[in-house]
Amino acid sequence: MAKIQIRSSVGRYEVHCGEGMLARGGSLVVGLGESTGTFVLSSPRVWKWCGRRISDTFRGKQVRGVILFDDREANKRLATVEKIQRTLVRAGADRRCVLIAVGGGVVGDVAGFVAASYLRGVRLVHVPTTLLAQVDSSLGGKTGVDLPEGKNLVGAFYPPQVVIADSSLLETLPHRELRSGLYEVVKYGVIADRELFAYVQRHMPSLLRRDPKALSWVIERCIRIKARVVTKDEHEDGPRQILNFGHTLGHALETATGYKRFVHGEAIGWGMLAATMLGAATGRIDEREAARIIRLIASVGPLPSIAAIKASDLARIVAGDKKALRGKARWVLPVKIGKVVWGEEVPWKLAARAFGELLGILAKARE
Ligand code: GLY
Repeated sequence: MAKIQIRSSVGRYEVHCGEGMLARGGSLVVGLGESTGTFVLSSPRVWKWCGRRISDTFRGKQVRGVILFDDREANKRLATVEKIQRTLVRAGADRRCVLIAVGGGVVGDVAGFVAASYLRGVRLVHVPTTLLAQVDSSLGGKTGVDLPEGKNLVGAFYPPQVVIADSSLLETLPHRELRSGLYEVVKYGVIADRELFAYVQRHMPSLLRRDPKALSWVIERCIRIKARVVTKDEHEDGPRQILNFGHTLGHALETATGYKRFVHGEAIGWGMLAATMLGAATGRIDEREAARIIRLIASVGPLPSIAAIKASDLARIVAGDKKALRGKARWVLPVKIGKVVWGEEVPWKLAARAFGELLGILAKARE
């Protein structure tokens, strides 16, 4: 079990991580100080698999309501935020209430934006229930929703008061969601931590089996990296951009398919493959290191096909991405395992070529 601090412009908050950490949830919420009640925000499918545990944890902690909303990526939009906020108004939620987001990335992003904008800001607690949310999306204060034109185009930086990441919540996580999170774990190895990369390489079968020791080890390691990065650069003016490795193309794939074909980590899996190939094609990373990254991504499991997606459709979306500047895509490219460069401009011709070769490269890595 570990307590990891993150500093933000509005103060510090703690991430409590480890198996069984949820048991401390009640006292952590009480420790936030006086409130006029808490509201749990979650989704029907998350609630089905862990609602009982959450209810037991927060029982008697002034829980005034549980608000469930559909947490498919296609539902991460402003209309959902409005609906939740109107429910809060009708339930009498005032400025001193606390919102507890229980779920994966979509629940956290939507609930975070609800908290950031409801009555100009109410306190927020994250209880991430997916691997991806535990290692990435619940940390660092990014909240928001998608537009049909692009992913996460509306949002705010809004840090939580506390994050409770209990790895035992992952026991019942659907397997596809587990793999989705593992792509983000691979990301941390590539961008910042050679030792983590090697550990994941050695322990991939155990991680896929949800071995508690292996999972706890990687979760804490990833949280420490993210805490360090976002403490240094909360608003992504500089080094936080390394966390976007795989996201330039990944977000475009999600947008191009109406947020319906990929779960987030899968799109990032494809995006990391493309960025690695681009790194190799532009001489930034040597072929052997690039091949190791590609093999590790391939070992996470199957990815939904990209065969029907046209590079020309992606070009338009990439240019409108929020990481783009003056209509030009900015890439995060690996230079070796454990180090990436960010803000890189690459001729679209090269990116389109890498995209065209992705299916073949992945098939070869799996031979
Ligand atoms: N998921 C990328 C970031 O938090 O900056």
